[in-house]
Amino acid sequence: GKGLAVFTSGGDSQGMNAAVRSVVRMGIYLGCKVYFIREGYQGMVDGGDNIEEANWSSVSSIIHKGGTIIGSARCMDFMKREGRLKAASNLVTRGITNLVVIGGDGSLTGANLFRQEWSSLLDELLENNRITKDQREKYKHLHIAGMVGSIDNDFCGTDMTIGTDSALHRIIEAIDAIVSTAYSHQRTFIMEVMGRHCGYLAVVTALSSEADYVFIPESPPTVDWRDKLCYKLEQARVNIMSLYYLALVAALASEADQVFIPEDPVPNNWVEKLCKRLQQERKSGQRLNIIIVAEGAIDREGQPITAELVKKVVVDNLQQDTRITVLGHVQRGGSPSAFDRILGCRMGAEAVMALMEATPETEPCVVTLDGNQAVRLPLMDCVRRTKAVAQAMADKNWDLAVQLRGRS
Ligand code: F6P
Repeated sequence: GKGLAVFTSGGDSQGMNAAVRSVVRMGIYLGCKVYFIREGYQGMVDGGDNIEEANWSSVSSIIHKGGTIIGSARCMDFMKREGRLKAASNLVTRGITNLVVIGGDGSLTGANLFRQEWSSLLDELLENNRITKDQREKYKHLHIAGMVGSIDNDFCGTDMTIGTDSALHRIIEAIDAIVSTAYSHQRTFIMEVMGRHCGYLAVVTALSSEADYVFIPESPPTVDWRDKLCYKLEQARVNIMSLYYLALVAALASEADQVFIPEDPVPNNWVEKLCKRLQQERKSGQRLNIIIVAEGAIDREGQPITAELVKKVVVDNLQQDTRITVLGHVQRGGSPSAFDRILGCRMGAEAVMALMEATPETEPCVVTLDGNQAVRLPLMDCVRRTKAVAQAMADKNWDLAVQLRGRS
């Protein structure tokens, strides 16, 4: 059978195990010899026990587990040609020419580069007598299929990345817990959620927890944020509609009208607006306030809007009893939701089928979710688009960033 290996790379996320399980079982079902590569690219470079044949039962009882049972790492060695040479040798000597990579855009880019270099790596290995002529000929084509595992939902080309839904479950559970204690003490809580440079987790969290305010990287305050910012409904709508999970978010967005519209239509001082909003809520009988801050929230100058900063504004202006909760890696752990389990399963199966159908000319693909269909897209197109979003953000072109991040 064909040699096929699966590995997870970069930050872990819930649902990766479901994807690994699916790759292993689909691969075996289709007659492949399937391998785990442990510890991501590092395991591929180091070889040895890190590359181990998998069987049907080695992926039993993992679908419900968070993290990734085969480990993940950010690998410096693979960034150098010497590392990739070792990796190629480790694969060829085991007859592996099909790779399933589960990771973020960096991991997928690495896989693409590896494929581009494959021929020259094999030539060098042959020259140095590290592989035989037969091996050079037999394993001359490397096929790659990717899947995106990340809680951030920051990859262009897919409605949802594997892990995002579970992270939202974790966050909402935590906010619900915070709300009960906030209620008792009439407190304001500022919750920082993850997402790197993507506000998806923050927006969906804010909508589904009835937060009073949200700060996200894609919609920095229009003017000097200390003096002039409020989260405008129009902006919120634009951003929300472009952030992939359209069905859910569109449904929630109608609720958001009340949550987010600042009554005063004049765009002015954000501190005033925020404070007015919080005060109004309290006056109308609400015993608490929740403000969501995405960890990547920034102002128009690119300066971070941190939970500490927002707290200072609330305390200085309103003297409200205010606390901060930073959820951190709790969001990335714990058992995967049903959605992420199924997403991992579907994508894993599709990735293996893509590899089995590949011809020497087939470009690497990434399996994504589009309107609830698992589809195969050219890997580098999606990576390029994802990088273009980062560039647009760096150029302070927020509209373009939001547009690019939306579905095509
Ligand atoms: O990409 C996933 C993520 O959890 C981000 O949301 C966060 O910014 C980052 O990884 C944290 O990375 P680390 O686990 O290396 O601290």
